[in-house]
Amino acid sequence: MIGIFDSGLGGLSVLAAIARALPRADLAYLADTAHVPYGNKPDAFIRGRVAAIGDYLVAQGCRVLVVACNTATAAAVGALREKHPALPIVGVEPGVKPAAASSRSRRIAVLATESTAKSERLARLIAEHAQGVAVQVEPCPGWATRVETLHPDGPEFAAEVAARIAPLLAAGADRLVLGCTHYSFLTPILVPLVAGRAELVDVADAVARQCLRLAGPAGEGHGRLTLHATAQPERLRAALPALGLGWLGERAQGQPVLARI
Ligand code: DGL
Repeated sequence: MIGIFDSGLGGLSVLAAIARALPRADLAYLADTAHVPYGNKPDAFIRGRVAAIGDYLVAQGCRVLVVACNTATAAAVGALREKHPALPIVGVEPGVKPAAASSRSRRIAVLATESTAKSERLARLIAEHAQGVAVQVEPCPGWATRVETLHPDGPEFAAEVAARIAPLLAAGADRLVLGCTHYSFLTPILVPLVAGRAELVDVADAVARQCLRLAGPAGEGHGRLTLHATAQPERLRAALPALGLGWLGERAQGQPVLARI
């Protein structure tokens, strides 16, 4: 079984890509809904949550872990790998490399949580993969929480998003990296705003390909999905159709589980 987790609903975008790439794998998804968002919390707190979630998913029988959260990857994937040295662990990092490689204007922007935006890991990623490219890192406080409401639509929020990305586009960025898994669910707002000027870069499919490479026997199962959340697990099932992922709901087995961790 492959265990996939996030602070909340954002990692469902990664879960969907993995479910498409590995249709026979048994998957467990955990949303740390009692503690969402992570993006405004200290690294030590995030590391504690990631350690507890890793132990929980391993106890459920997961043999591969996917940290479907840029914030948790930046703050805690190193510590998680130290704790489980024998376990394949896939993290999610903003797609700086593909964005920099494909940018024609040589200007890109990374949309991320406050925590990811100021992380050393992102600074290193930019230094390694965006040489000669101007990179603007744009923290987007409140965006992930907005996705958690299941109603990211609405004129006020759309205006806030438009105001945040307008300066990036005006500066000539032609790639906007979705550096938080929640932002995949904001594409209905973002796509019309960037149309003809920039492309959005999402790494969910690349993460799924990495998962496919590492999964081994964990990729062979019955194509089952179990849902776990640290608060209001029933909301997780309701979120699937609301986020356009109703087909994943059909794979889900039993009732979503309340994870007491
Ligand atoms: N989905 C997460 C990410 O990719 C974190 C959002 C949050 O909890 O602040 O960064």
